Amino acid sequence: NIIIMLKNKNLISLKDLSKDDIIQILDLADVLKKEKQNDVYRNDLSNKSLAIILNKPSTRTKISFELAMYELGGHVINLNYNDLQLSRSETIEDTANALSCYINVIVARTNHSDLVQLSNYSKVPVINGLSELYHPCQILSDLQTIREIQPNLSKTKITWIGDGNNVCNSLILGCAKLGISVTISCPKGYEPNSEVFNYSKKISQNNDSNIEIIYDPYQAVLDSTVIMTDTFVSMGVESEKEIRLKSFLPKYQVNSRLLKNASVDYVFMHCLPAHRNHEVTNDVIDGPHSVVWQEAENRLHTQKSLLSLILNDK
Ligand code: CP
Ligand code: NVA
Repeated sequence: NIIIMLKNKNLISLKDLSKDDIIQILDLADVLKKEKQNDVYRNDLSNKSLAIILNKPSTRTKISFELAMYELGGHVINLNYNDLQLSRSETIEDTANALSCYINVIVARTNHSDLVQLSNYSKVPVINGLSELYHPCQILSDLQTIREIQPNLSKTKITWIGDGNNVCNSLILGCAKLGISVTISCPKGYEPNSEVFNYSKKISQNNDSNIEIIYDPYQAVLDSTVIMTDTFVSMGVESEKEIRLKSFLPKYQVNSRLLKNASVDYVFMHCLPAHRNHEVTNDVIDGPHSVVWQEAENRLHTQKSLLSLILNDK
């Protein structure tokens, strides 16, 4: 008889979740992963429907949310931004009201201010499927992956190498809430969002973890048990590609030379899609320390857990 704290909650950033909320999502995700073959949860969301609104490409987020809903017995409607009247100037408010007439939960991948407006007007929960500021669902499943490999999270030390982007912002928030230490190593000018950094730093000071920026990547990876990176050129900043590659390479590439400084049993993580030989070399992403496919698979289990906790009537 667990208390479902997440019922009807929006998930715009991990600020919306408490430590207990996150633990509850991870615990149920572990159960759903273990029970996948037994299918015992197949009718949990049988009268529920999810709308996925995409204004940017997606492979993993779209597939995992869609499949999560189907595997729990629910329905999915995929809405491409350009097919909606929203693209012909129907307001976000009217769109949110219309969707709320039919749908029980919305996953949206769009710019952050539109997402916030959508969630303000929607009468049903809105989940951020990635904005330029956050990618909370990615980090929930990354936390599941990390906990599977390193169950004692207070001993985990994560180093993020590269762009202080949406995934990095969510990582800092998630780790602060769970008391995991994170070091960010990025070129000057590509730090994580300063408000998110300061907010997270405050929380981490109360739970004995440490959130810091170390510009030198060789210094930053010292004794790290998890090394993470992501593209240097996120969706929406493609016009900056040339200048970004010059700022990040070769110093912030995750390669075997850099990883000599990490803890002997480190794992390498990447939310994907990867840009091979930019942020990471093939020998690292395809090597024995890489857990990127476990990480990708866990998107399904955490999406199921999240949907089930937000929508469950029980
Ligand atoms: N990691 C992730 O969100 O991938 P997609 O862009 O393919 O959804
Ligand atoms: N930072 C990347 C993540 C893709 C899943 C982007 O926003 O494009």
